[in-house]
Amino acid sequence: MNTLLTLHGIQKSFTKKSAQPSLLDIKTLTIDRASAYVLTGINGAGKTTLLRILSGLDSATVTQASFLGHEIAWTPYPRLLRDAIVYVHQHPIMFAGTVSANIVYGLKVRGMAPAEQQAELQQALQWAGLGHLSERQASSLSGGEKQRVALARAKVLRPQLLLLDEPTSNLDGEAREQVIKLIPQLVSDGSSVIMVCHDRDLIALPGVHRLKLRDGRLENR
Ligand SMILES: Nc1ncnc2c1ncn2[C@@H]1O[C@H](COP(=O)(O)OP(=O)(O)OP(=O)(O)O)[C@@H](O)[C@H]1O
Ligand SMILES: [Mg+2]
Repeated sequence: MNTLLTLHGIQKSFTKKSAQPSLLDIKTLTIDRASAYVLTGINGAGKTTLLRILSGLDSATVTQASFLGHEIAWTPYPRLLRDAIVYVHQHPIMFAGTVSANIVYGLKVRGMAPAEQQAELQQALQWAGLGHLSERQASSLSGGEKQRVALARAKVLRPQLLLLDEPTSNLDGEAREQVIKLIPQLVSDGSSVIMVCHDRDLIALPGVHRLKLRDGRLENR
């Protein structure tokens, strides 16, 4: 069984006026395990809204949902998905404290033993190329460094689905290339990734599936 998440009948409007078409009116969204998707669409198409719905930050009507083959109720947003799905904001917010403190934060909340937290931290610092910055105040980092801290902070939670909102849009040069390099590694470690982006190099990564939002509908391309 290779399907991670299936949603049928996703409907979303921010206005109550029934005369207006829904922002989102998606028949089916299917996400496979350990697969990467790029989500495109014009400004205002609803890309961020769809990621926020998938991570439980925005509500939506969903007629049927299943996760790893089991039917689930979408509302209220299930605990199971809160653990399985992590959303990374376009401009990630750094918590007060060091880079290390930011990365282990979620593990602490989950009650992981300190020795295990340290092991995960060291792996994640190395993975994201942040070893030399581990004791820096996270708020003082550059945009590219913050983006990598956000990815490391998400990765240690071993999400089954990572939602990345324009992960490279504020980056250029080496910072951008470093982030692009991390994406296939997430997939080879078993996570699925949906990234909103216009970055040709990300879209061109091998094996990336293309999704496009147009007039509220989702096109598989
Ligand atoms: N909380 C909200 N209340 C009202 N309208 C909203 C809200 N959030 C988003 N919208 C509207 O929904 C539409 C889709 O917004 P969304 O941010 O999902 O688009 P997007 O595809 O991510 O666009 P962009 O490419 O500019 O990031 C926009 O018209 C936006 O103004
Ligand atoms: Mg957006």
